[in-house]
Amino acid sequence: MTKIYVWSLFTRLFHLLLVLAVAVAFLLADFESLLTLHVAVGFTIGLLFVYRIIWGFMDVRYSQFKDFHFNLVALKEYMFGIFGTKKKYIGHNPASSYAIVAMIVLGLGSVFSGAVVYGTQEGMGIFSFLNFSFFKKMDFFKDVHEFFSNAFMAVIFVHIAGVILDKVLHKSKAAESMMDGYKDGDAESLKLTLFQKLFGVLWIASSLFLFIYILSNPSSVLVADANTVVDYKKEHPQFYKECKSCHTLYPPYLLSKQSWVKMMDNLENHFGDDASLDEKDKKSIRDYLVENAAENSTKESAFNILKSIKNTEAIAITKTPYWQKRHEDIDKNIFASKEISVKSNCKACHKNIEQGLLNDKDIKIPKISKG
Ligand code: HEC
Ligand code: HEC
Repeated sequence: MTKIYVWSLFTRLFHLLLVLAVAVAFLLADFESLLTLHVAVGFTIGLLFVYRIIWGFMDVRYSQFKDFHFNLVALKEYMFGIFGTKKKYIGHNPASSYAIVAMIVLGLGSVFSGAVVYGTQEGMGIFSFLNFSFFKKMDFFKDVHEFFSNAFMAVIFVHIAGVILDKVLHKSKAAESMMDGYKDGDAESLKLTLFQKLFGVLWIASSLFLFIYILSNPSSVLVADANTVVDYKKEHPQFYKECKSCHTLYPPYLLSKQSWVKMMDNLENHFGDDASLDEKDKKSIRDYLVENAAENSTKESAFNILKSIKNTEAIAITKTPYWQKRHEDIDKNIFASKEISVKSNCKACHKNIEQGLLNDKDIKIPKISKG
C-alpha cells in the first residue's frame, strides 16, 4: 500500500470553509441583530455549493460525481458491513456519496428558502419584492427554511457520526485525509490540470470575496433593504407633533384599526394622562392611524402583533403577547436603567423606529451604567 493523493487543496479548503460557515450560520440563527451576518454566511454557503456542483462535473478524480457510488446494493452492503470487514473505497464510499448529494440539495434548499424568508419577512434582499404579495405567508416560508436547515444539520450529524464510527471500528483515515489530502491504498493519485487549479482558486477566492462584499456593502442587491423610511412629520404633521410629545412616536402599524379607534376615542384618559385634542385633529390623526394600522401593513411586526392580539382591543403595544415574548429575555434592570427608564422608550433600542423601521439588524441594546 502506498499513499495516494485523493483530496485536492481546493476540496479541502471548501470543506473547511463549509464547516465554519455552517457552524456560524447555525449558531447565529436566533440572534436578530446579527441577521446580516447570518445572511452573508448563507449566501457564501450557496456559492461554495454551486462551485462544488460544477467541480463534480469536471474531470477531477475522486471528487467528480462519476466516481461517487450510488449503487443501492453497494450502499446496503456498506451499511451492513460497517461492523465487520468491509470493502475499502478510496474516494467517497456509498454512504458518503449519498450524504454529499443530500447535503448539497438541503444546503442549497436552506440558502434559497432563507433568501425567500429574508424577502417576505424582512423586506430585504433579492426577494424583497415578495414582501408585498406574500407577507401573509411569512410563517410558511420560515417553516420551509427551518425544515431545510434542520434536515441539512441532521445529515451533517449522520455524516460526522459515520466518520467517527469508521475511525473507531476500522481505524479509517477519512478525517485526516480531509486535512492532508492523503489516503492509504493502491490506486492512482489525483492530479489537477492547470485549468482545474485556476477554477479552484476562483472557487475559494470568490466565495470569500462574496462574504466580505455583502458585509461591507449593505446596499448590495443581496441584502438591500427595501423598507422605506417614513417621514411622519411630512406625512402627517399633527400625528408627529401630538403623539411624539410625551413618548416615542409609535409607527401606526404596531396596533390594529380597532385598537387605534379605541385609544383615540379615549384620549382624556390616556394611560393616566390627559392627551386630549380638539375634534378636528383627533379625527384626522385617528383616520391616519386606522389607514396605516397593522391590517394594512406588510411588516413582520405588524403581522405578528395582529396575530397575537387576535380580536382584542389591546391599546398598549407592550401588553401584546408578541411584544412580551420578543422582549422576555431582556433583563428588567436594562429597562429600568436610566438610559431607558421605561419599556415604552422603544427608540433607546430601535434607533429608527420613529422613521417607521423596526429591522432586526437595527436592534441595539444600549450600554447601561451600573447602579
Ligand atoms: C400627554 C402625554 C401623551 C401624549 C400627548 C400622548 N401620549 Fe401616548 N402615552 C402617554 C403615557 C404616559 C403612556 C403610558 C406610559 C408609557 O407607556 O410610556 C402612553 C402610552 C401610549 C401607548 C402604549 C405604549 C405601550 O406601552 O405599548 C401608545 C400606543 C400611545 N401612547 C399612543 C399615543 C398616540 C397615538 C398619541 C397621539 C394621539 C399619544 N400616545 C399621545 C402619554 C401621552
Ligand atoms: C431594552 C431595549 C428595547 C426596548 C426599550 C424595546 N425593544 Fe423591541 N426589541 C429589543 C430586542 C433586543 C429585540 C429582539 C429580540 C429577539 O431577538 O427576538 C426586540 C424586538 C422587537 C420587535 C420584533 C422585531 C421583529 O422582528 O419584528 C418589535 C416589533 C419590537 N421589538 C418593538 C418594540 C417597541 C414597539 C418598543 C417600545 C414600545 C420596543 N420594542 C422597546 C429591544 C428593545
